[in-house]
Amino acid sequence: MKKHIFLIGFMGCGKSTNAKRLAEMTGRVRIEMDEEIAADEGMEVQEIFRVHGEPYFRDLETKLVNDLAEREPSVVSCGGGTVLREENVAMMKTEGVVVLLTASPETVYERIHETGDRPVLKGNMNVPYIRELMEKRRPSYEAAADFRVATDGKTSEEICREILELVAAQA
Ligand code: S3P
Repeated sequence: MKKHIFLIGFMGCGKSTNAKRLAEMTGRVRIEMDEEIAADEGMEVQEIFRVHGEPYFRDLETKLVNDLAEREPSVVSCGGGTVLREENVAMMKTEGVVVLLTASPETVYERIHETGDRPVLKGNMNVPYIRELMEKRRPSYEAAADFRVATDGKTSEEICREILELVAAQA
């Protein structure tokens, strides 16, 4: 089996929640990219965007993705924009299996509209904008994914079982 299990997808599609459950189910280490970047920088992601700008954050993401090659087999919860850089995707495909989680714009809105910590949706936290950005990013998500799992209306248990079956089938 390839080393890491990368969970990718739009904000609010369940990457963090399901990475936690997957890590419990598999005994793997969980790597939450946003959390690690925030811890290294000593500030939250939205603060990094505000103080240093998005390109700085994207460089930190690329650096972390490259560092993952040295880590033990893990479940990696990526940031929603990690796959926007092709060099990140190339490394992820070499180092693991890439699973795309999907959710409808309405579900995403329901899950994240009260959190206030998504800088790319600042001032645009509404379903039409989420739909537009999701569509714009769809080609990048689809190109990066080895598998896709829809999350709407499913429990974490169901989603993770589906992921593990897909991963095991290609191992
Ligand atoms: C981003 C998604 C966020 C975080 C940053 C940028 C994006 O992660 O990395 O705010 O561009 O989609 P989540 O998908 O975990 O919210």
